[in-house]
Amino acid sequence: MADANTVYVVTGANRGLGLGLTKRLLERPDTTVVASVRNQDAVARLKAEVETVALGENSVLQIVELDFSTATPPEQITQSFSAAASTVAHVDVLICNAGYATSMIPALEISAADLRTSFEVNTIAPLLVFQALWPLLQKSTSVPKLAVISSSVGSIAEQEPLPGGAYGASKAASNWLTKALHNQHEADGLVAFALHPGWVQTRAGDFVAKEWGFSDSPPVTVEDSVRGMLNVIDGATRENVSGKFVSQTGDLLSW
Ligand SMILES: NC(=O)c1ccc[n+]([C@@H]2O[C@H](COP(=O)([O-])OP(=O)(O)OC[C@H]3O[C@@H](n4cnc5c(N)ncnc54)[C@H](OP(=O)(O)O)[C@@H]3O)[C@@H](O)[C@H]2O)c1
Repeated sequence: MADANTVYVVTGANRGLGLGLTKRLLERPDTTVVASVRNQDAVARLKAEVETVALGENSVLQIVELDFSTATPPEQITQSFSAAASTVAHVDVLICNAGYATSMIPALEISAADLRTSFEVNTIAPLLVFQALWPLLQKSTSVPKLAVISSSVGSIAEQEPLPGGAYGASKAASNWLTKALHNQHEADGLVAFALHPGWVQTRAGDFVAKEWGFSDSPPVTVEDSVRGMLNVIDGATRENVSGKFVSQTGDLLSW
């Protein structure tokens, strides 16, 4: 029965980490994954990828189309979500994973357009998706969780020695909002944290490696990153990682 399932929402699920998370979650029994992608090509790719997954008993995938290039009002996100996943009456875990890496250029060269693009996808979209799904998260059958996939490039205290472009600023702002949600929803028991996935072999990870002049691939595989992130998400409580910036290995990062 789908309503008794644990319900995960994963944004940006057609490739990279979002796809890896979606596939591993669907192997679990009694699990519903509502996966967001931004167009029909991505829907087709996600469906084809999931055909290779040994679905857990009673587990189902629902797909919702959401494009984060310009802000979609939460009410509209709710409508799209309800239309795509009409049987889903609660959400247990929201994983805001969709993200966009612009050029890793020094601050002196960042354009307003770069900042706007980065903030749309990396800062504004996760907040608006949370706002849209908050009523369903409040109906969680256990503890509502929000994992925002962040990046060490967004750390202010331990800024990387290489330039982070507009991407770093947008992830730092997203971190601030994640901590605010943790602080402001203690009474609701919300577990909200920023999750760095490691430096991973995905389109975004490879792009950053190239921007920084590395010829090697990033060190972490999608499989290892996803395994680590799911460990952190599964074990996350108000007491351990909520309100914190944590990596896929469970280590705490400085804001
Ligand atoms: N890989 C790393 O080393 C690394 C390190 C730190 C943090 N991260 C973070 O991890 C998350 C996942 O990234 P990834 O490494 O898996 O990269 P990826 O392979 O490039 O995947 C990014 C995902 O985000 C989606 N997305 C991008 N712009 C979007 C938009 N405007 N509207 C809707 N969806 C959009 C993409 O959809 P399309 O396919 O349609 O573009 C794709 O599904 C991101 O938040 C990224 O910042 C990654």
